[in-house]
Amino acid sequence: MRSPSYSSPSLPETATSVAAPEARSAEPRFHQRHVENTETVRKELLEGLARPQAEISPKFLYDELGSSLFTAITLLDEYYPTRCENEIFARHSAEIVGHAGQTRTLIDLGAGDCAKAERLLAHMHPTHYVPIDISVDYLKAAVKRIADHYPELDITALGMDFFNDLTLSDDVHPEQRTFFYPGSSIGNLPPAQAADLLANIRRQCVDGALIIGVDLVKAREILEPAYDDAVGVTAAFNLNMLRHVNQILGSDFDLTQWRHVACFNEARSRMEMHLRARVATTVTWPGGQRRFEKDENIHTEDSYKYRPHAFKAMLARAGFGQIRYWTDAREWFAVFCARA
Ligand code: TRP
Repeated sequence: MRSPSYSSPSLPETATSVAAPEARSAEPRFHQRHVENTETVRKELLEGLARPQAEISPKFLYDELGSSLFTAITLLDEYYPTRCENEIFARHSAEIVGHAGQTRTLIDLGAGDCAKAERLLAHMHPTHYVPIDISVDYLKAAVKRIADHYPELDITALGMDFFNDLTLSDDVHPEQRTFFYPGSSIGNLPPAQAADLLANIRRQCVDGALIIGVDLVKAREILEPAYDDAVGVTAAFNLNMLRHVNQILGSDFDLTQWRHVACFNEARSRMEMHLRARVATTVTWPGGQRRFEKDENIHTEDSYKYRPHAFKAMLARAGFGQIRYWTDAREWFAVFCARA
């Protein structure tokens, strides 16, 4: 699973572009569009901490240590989504790509190390590959690898926040786009926002397709350990957020006073991740503070789990048709392919 990346990068103010327009097998182009403003980030954090139900946005999970811990999570016995999705692509990639139809441009949402898309490229023969992540810096090494492997493939790497704006650069042909959104990150959005994102993708997609990973509803006994493993990596991953927040805000969260809590909210069909105060404590930062009672929670992330028919209906409402899905042998995870 590719995680959304965030690590307070200092990015250039202007888009950079290195192009060799005359060659068909041009040098990869890099455009950084999203620029994170430190003041906005601080304000967002402080607003979340001031709410009656305190919250910290999941994007703060992914500083350098957090990203490494997430990679470690995908190796845990309990964390099934990555392995299930790998199983589905290992068995059904050719069929999934066949259902997507002719692809001129492969658009990779949250591409990261581009490894998942690279597996599709063995079956799909687009002329243009467009990996997107919050910072193009995360894409550089992977783009070089893919450019070496596929010298004929035109590549445009985009650094943008596709949750807010999915407008692609002008060099991306409007037709026969296949959007690729693996990893079930769609489940980290509340359903109304997930529906908006799907509709947004649909609008960018003419005679194209969407291939998307979705985690399915299953027994609490499987879900909860996946988000609270025996080794304690997931707990470290969630707690690390407080360390990251301390760096950004200059706050004094004492990590030993907090513990990771993960529970399945069956009524809302979501895993809920919290940090719970072990003792009553006051956290301070320059210009403010907040008291937390013993057992008070800071909400950090939700991960919605879908039933196949419900996700199919959501894709249909977003304007997609010819919706098919594939699951792993245990039916724990699904990869949907829908046409636009
Ligand atoms: N997006 C991942 C998921 O929902 C992230 C994740 C895995 C996570 N384990 C976590 C987020 C624990 C917070 C706490 O599967």
